[in-house]
Amino acid sequence: MKIAMVGSGYVGLVSGACFADFGHDVVCIDKDEGKIARLREGIMPIYEPGLEALVESNAKAGRLSFTTSLAEGIEGASAIFIAVGTPSRRGDGHADLTFVYEVAREVGQNLAGDAVVVTKSTVPVGTGDEVERIIGDTGTGHRFAVVSNPEFLREGAAIGDFKRPDRIVIGAEDEFGREVMREVYRPLFLNESPILFTSRRTSELIKYAANAFLATKITFINEMADLCEKVGANVQDVARGIGMDNRIGPKFLNAGPGYGGSCFPKDTLALLKTAEDYDSPTRIVEAVVKTNDSRKRAMGRKVLDALGGAEAARGKKAALLGLTFKPNTDDMRDSPSIAIAQTLADAGVAIAAYDPEGMDQARPLMPGVEMCEDPYAAIANADAVVIVTEWDAFRALDLARMKDLAKAPVLIDLRNIYSPDDVRAAGFSYASVGRA
Ligand code: UGA
Repeated sequence: MKIAMVGSGYVGLVSGACFADFGHDVVCIDKDEGKIARLREGIMPIYEPGLEALVESNAKAGRLSFTTSLAEGIEGASAIFIAVGTPSRRGDGHADLTFVYEVAREVGQNLAGDAVVVTKSTVPVGTGDEVERIIGDTGTGHRFAVVSNPEFLREGAAIGDFKRPDRIVIGAEDEFGREVMREVYRPLFLNESPILFTSRRTSELIKYAANAFLATKITFINEMADLCEKVGANVQDVARGIGMDNRIGPKFLNAGPGYGGSCFPKDTLALLKTAEDYDSPTRIVEAVVKTNDSRKRAMGRKVLDALGGAEAARGKKAALLGLTFKPNTDDMRDSPSIAIAQTLADAGVAIAAYDPEGMDQARPLMPGVEMCEDPYAAIANADAVVIVTEWDAFRALDLARMKDLAKAPVLIDLRNIYSPDDVRAAGFSYASVGRA
């Protein structure tokens, strides 16, 4: 089966490479000539474990190709995926659908045969209806169906998530759409990955509801962590204790500096906008958004406390380990590290930082922060070391070496990756999240 993937960003590229790996014939399309030229040479636009090898092997096998021409790329394709960005519209948080609608128009104008058009981009409820209208208005003579197929990939684990999904959600309004999508996902069907067929609007909402629920789970445990610190309890044990209840589940209960990334912050805001448009308030999600926003700066104040308070902190130095919003990505979007660095800089604290993949992206977002070659270079002469992101490389730091290098043995572990007893035994003053 031939599949066209319009948009070769994170979602499009991972999905395209994985579909090709399942044996489909995939063309990835993007307007960015530089990006397509680099992809043809095997150079990835993003850091994602395993992606480069997957792209290379499938391109070599002739199943994956790249083009800037939409007309050429969609020719003969039974399924045309729209996987372009839907950023937050400046000012109001609505998802910006300009790119999605542009692609829909161009697809309609260039259809050369019957095809299913699939929105994979995260789009608000009703977008599929509009895409259908736009394509219809182009006057194409070919049969087409518009289907919603949201993605649930996590950055850093995207290939595994694609190949072994918890579920595949397909929102289709007619049998033609369902039939083609069954064929698209047949390799996963044989893997026994459950496929849930719903209406198109339902499928569009499932994506937002899933991300908002996960963001809520994280925010809930973060508030429990604050309470744990006050009452002398341990949030990791609370998470275990509630997570063993099958109705709650153990995942997404790691307390930390607040969620970031390209999805939860943007999608929760867009859901609020939809709720507002339809006059159906979602107060829980409203509270989650506000609570998470204020948490990021609160983490900066936690570091100031460890430095002896805002007054005493002036002129001291903090080392930030990990800048990306989570490990195994170079993505800095809405990363808690940005608000933390800002809070520290506002208080006159000098900052040195190290991140295994994110420093190039971080540099323009954190002017004045010294980017270092390795964790120990950042730690040298620091009055406090802060673990912001739980990269594996920070899980077994040489505590003795750190103590020698730092000006003061103070460790603030915002991801709870160390045992308080071990760190204190090594002579550190230690603060973590939700552990008294
Ligand atoms: C998220 C969803 O998990 C994916 O299912 C979805 O497809 C994706 O958004 C999307 O909409 O495209 P992602 O943003 O890559 O994926 O990252 P997550 O692993 O979900 O982490 C998001 C944030 O939550 C990170 O800042 C992470 O540190 C934080 N988090 C996660 C916690 O603080 N605690 C947890 O227990 C889990």
